[in-house]
Amino acid sequence: MSVNRPAAVVVLAAGEGTRMKSKTPKVLHEISGRSLVGHVVAASRELDPEHLVVVVGHRSEQVTAHLTADDRLRTAHQAEQKGTGHAVRIGLDELGGAVEGTVIVVCGDTPLLSGETLRALAATHTADANAVTVLTAEVPDSTGYGRIVRDPADGAVTAIVEHKDATDAQRAIREINSGVFAFDGRLLADALGKVRTDNSQGEEYLTDVLSILREAGHRVGASVAVDHREILGINNRVQLAEARRLLNQRLLEQAMMAGVTVVDPASTVIDATVTYERDALVHPGTQLLGTTHLGEDAEVGPNTRLTDTVVRAGARVDNTVADRAEIGEGATVGPYAYLRPGTRLGTKAKAGTYVEMKNATIGEGTKVPHLSYVGDATIGDHTNIGAASVFVNYDGVAKHHTTIGSHCRTGSDNMFVAPVTVGDGAYTAAGSVITKDVPPGSLAVARGQQRNIEGWVARKRPGSGAAQAAQAATSERNSES
Ligand code: UD1
Ligand code: CA
Repeated sequence: MSVNRPAAVVVLAAGEGTRMKSKTPKVLHEISGRSLVGHVVAASRELDPEHLVVVVGHRSEQVTAHLTADDRLRTAHQAEQKGTGHAVRIGLDELGGAVEGTVIVVCGDTPLLSGETLRALAATHTADANAVTVLTAEVPDSTGYGRIVRDPADGAVTAIVEHKDATDAQRAIREINSGVFAFDGRLLADALGKVRTDNSQGEEYLTDVLSILREAGHRVGASVAVDHREILGINNRVQLAEARRLLNQRLLEQAMMAGVTVVDPASTVIDATVTYERDALVHPGTQLLGTTHLGEDAEVGPNTRLTDTVVRAGARVDNTVADRAEIGEGATVGPYAYLRPGTRLGTKAKAGTYVEMKNATIGEGTKVPHLSYVGDATIGDHTNIGAASVFVNYDGVAKHHTTIGSHCRTGSDNMFVAPVTVGDGAYTAAGSVITKDVPPGSLAVARGQQRNIEGWVARKRPGSGAAQAAQAATSERNSES
């Protein structure tokens, strides 16, 4: 356990976010595979806090339902948004009032805030034995933010002044309050009781706690964020897109530093929850989403979207869409394949061009190379499925399963009408509609016999191009013989 382990993290997420112009609460908008508040919660977790409380308010049922899927956090309900100070008070009430130890406060709409920055803040706070430490940043445009006012003599932080309450001179300050703080839990609870509402917004400002503590003779400190973009708060969808771009770039850089080749970061999308091994290679136009995993030497893309999909070592996935699929070691997929949930390709298996699979287990070395649909099926090892085959799994009422054994060779253009089983080592003829089980080692032929009606074209289509071509071919044959 870290010495800087905070007693609690309080995440403020009760605000409305009207500028999103959305029926979805602001903090539930998603970038890089998590909701905005989900990113903040994930960064907070890196501090390993004893308690994690999210203060919810606007559309609280929806936000609470989203959050409580994670049973390691609690929510506190702020019915009316009376300011950030009030929100923290509600959060602490959920923990029984004052908390012994460090309390970290973060906002639910800053998805770029990293665990690393939070750890640095907590470390400074503890090392300097502060009553409060505020995370600040120098920003190019400080409009709208609370300004950090420092003592001209010693540079110590004396107050945070909200934009709306600031003088022109204060508005010129470019160091701003990120909204992230570390507090001594007891002193925080005390000071919150003293926060007044005589400001331009008539709210309880959390920022006033800083001057209250300073005036009471406690130590007040600041930790300046290395990258001001980390504290970017999302208010509208332009900022949402900008945050997505920055976060995506950060996540790709992490992947590259870990040994993944990303050919074109500008056209590659990666979620925060994706994992990978070294020497994986990602071609342009690829989206790696959810819990997707890339094994060593896996090569994916271009133009591929993988959702919750495992790509094992050395597999090759080209121009493919896959969702909840598992692609075995050295397997090949695409170009132009669609792997739907429950597809499991074994080692060195193949799902080739224009192949769709769903709920299908494909054995080691088994190939489905061209133009086929494999749904609700189990196929053994080292089998080859002929081009343009369909696993007819749906009778209009229910889905049925097809089982094909190992070392089978099925002909092109087969229909396997489920439920049906083809035994090990069996063959099927091209164009067969397989409705009955095929015993191991046999050849199944299930198609109409071919019948040639000689001279039909000359009789039925006289003078046509076809008739002339047939005539020419026939006389040529006759002169040759
Ligand atoms: C706040 C800070 C400001 C800082 C800025 C950083 C105060 C008074 N001001 O301003 O100094 O520069 O953040 O982004 O703290 N919230 C609640 N309940 C409330 C009010 C707010 O949960 O009653 C939540 C919001 O959902 C949001 C966060 O607190 O996540 C910040 O609130 P917001 O209204 O955006 O504060 P700012 O005016 O931006
Ligand atoms: Ca505001």
